Parts: sequence; structure tokens; C-alpha cells
Amino acid sequence: MAAPIVDGEYLKVVEKARRDLRALIANKNCAPIMVRLAWHDAGTYDVNTKTGGPNGSIRFEEELNHGANAGLKIAIDLCEPVKAKHSRITYADLYQLAGVVAVEVTGGPTIDFVPGRRDSSVCPKEGRLPDAKQGPPHLRDIFYRMGLSDKDIVALSGAHTLGRAHPDRSGFNGPWTNEPLKFDNTYFVELLKGESEGLLKLPTDKALVEDPEFRRFVELYAKDEDAFFKDYAESHKKLSELGFTPASSAAKSEVATGTILAHSAVGVAVAAAVIVVSYLYESRKIK
Ligand code: HEM
Repeated sequence: MAAPIVDGEYLKVVEKARRDLRALIANKNCAPIMVRLAWHDAGTYDVNTKTGGPNGSIRFEEELNHGANAGLKIAIDLCEPVKAKHSRITYADLYQLAGVVAVEVTGGPTIDFVPGRRDSSVCPKEGRLPDAKQGPPHLRDIFYRMGLSDKDIVALSGAHTLGRAHPDRSGFNGPWTNEPLKFDNTYFVELLKGESEGLLKLPTDKALVEDPEFRRFVELYAKDEDAFFKDYAESHKKLSELGFTPASSAAKSEVATGTILAHSAVGVAVAAAVIVVSYLYESRKIK
């Protein structure tokens, strides 16, 4: 077995990369394309063959040239200086961290990030990402192949609250909401509002209101942003960990042991303080 990637030093590198990504994404207003990069690296996963997934392979021209990835070179290039500065972080972790930070920086839910993904230079064949021109059966084919559910499909589609389509990338045009740099539940509110014709609706977006199973979640998320944030955070974490089993790594147990030790030290200190105070109290009473 290959040596584990994650140790105490690696965790520090990840935290530094996280800070740099926060600043980069806030400065460049590039949260939407970072979320799309993370999703397109992860979304190639095939649960049956255990191939594809969040492994950084999207950085290679072969995969970047897939039609669905048009425009993502911009996001890859934006990540390069962060990789150059923190060379130990894998591309696979870097892209997923960028996605998590982008959601956070635009006001979305906090998504738990567990590091340790390995890089791969094996690119999946073209055709694993969804085709925006199709309907519910296609969406299910694609997402079930990743091992995801109807709820994941709808919750994750809520990421279209960010960003826009570009005619030279996908052939579609415009944003889904009036505030494409704010992560909230507006995507679902707009989907249910027939009149906002100026805003983008892909055939796959319409599929979410036409299919009764999907629609149940659209209606819930449009009226309950907390429910959306909770489910989105869970689904995004799942997406970011497709095919990745976080090592029950030495670093993690070191951290856990450290915490337990710290807690016991606090416990002992509190107990000692209680004894001293009660002694002082008792000795005062005697006087
Ligand atoms: C359900 C199937 C999906 C389809 C068919 C789809 C399709 C598309 C298309 C056509 C674009 C426009 C690209 C462009 O022209 O720049 C786009 C953008 C985007 N997608 Fe999706 N998408 C899907 C799911 C997702 C998921 C699961 C996420 C994230 C969790 C996501 C995040 C984004 C973001 C953030 C953008 C905006 C990118 C930018 O502004 O540059 N999409 N998507």
C-alpha cells in the first residue's frame, strides 16, 4: 500500500492553502468557476468500476478538452500559484478545497473537508458528466452511476445559484439568479417562478420541476433555506469524497489523542482548583 499522504505537516499545508484560496476567490470573484472545477473533477466517478472521481485528472489536457469542461482551464490556472506555494497539497485536494472555500466565501454552508485524496494521471473517457439538454432519466443515469441519489441531484443543482453560462463555453447564456455571487436558495425560488424568463433555465433545470420526486425537494429548498444548506453541505461532501476513503490516518488519531489529553489536562486542573477553593472555604469557616 502507498504511504499515507496526511500527517501533521500536511494538515498545516492544507490550512495555509485554504487561507490563500479564500483570499484568491474573494479577490478574483471566481467562486462559481471554482465550484464547477471541483464538481467536474469529482463528477466523473463510476461507482461500479471505481474509476474517475476527485483525483485531479481534470488538469490534463486530455480531460480538459472534453466538451463539458470548456472554460475550466481558467480555474486550473487560478489554482496554480496556490499549488506552487504549497507544493505538498495534491491537486485532488486542492480542487476540492477550492470548491468548499468558494461555497463558504459566497455565504453558503460550511462543508466538512477531509484531506488525503491522491492524484491520478488516468483520465476518464468523455461522456461521464451530464448533458444539459436532457431530462430526468439522463440525470438519474449520470448521478446514480456516481452512487448519488435523487436528493443529491436536486441539492447539488442548487449550486447554480452561483455563476452563469457562457455562450462560448456551453452555448447557453446568462445567470440563474440576480445575485450570482451569493450562495443562497434563490435558484429554487427562481425555478418555481414561471415569470423570470430572463434568467437561465437549462432543460436539466426544468427536469427538476417536472419530475415529481425531484420537485418535492425543489419545493422544500425554495421555502426552507436551512434545509437546503444542511442537505447541500452533506451532498457536496459526498461528491467531494467519491471513491475516497479518508484514511483512519495517523494524523487524525494524533489530533484526537491530543484533544483527549488536552481535555484530561483541563479536567485535572479544574479538579485541583475545586479542591483548593473548598479547602480555603472550609478553613475560613473554622476561623
Ligand atoms: C445536474 C446536472 C448539471 C448540468 C446539466 C449542469 C450544466 C451546467 C452548464 C451548461 C453550465 C454553464 C457553463 C458555462 O457556460 O460556463 C454550468 C455552470 C455551472 N455549474 Fe452546472 N450543471 C449541473 C450540475 C452542477 C453541479 C452538481 C454543480 C456543483 C455542485 C454545478 C455547478 C455549476 C456552477 C457553479 C456553474 C457556474 C460556472 C461559472 O459561472 O463559470 N453544476 N452547469
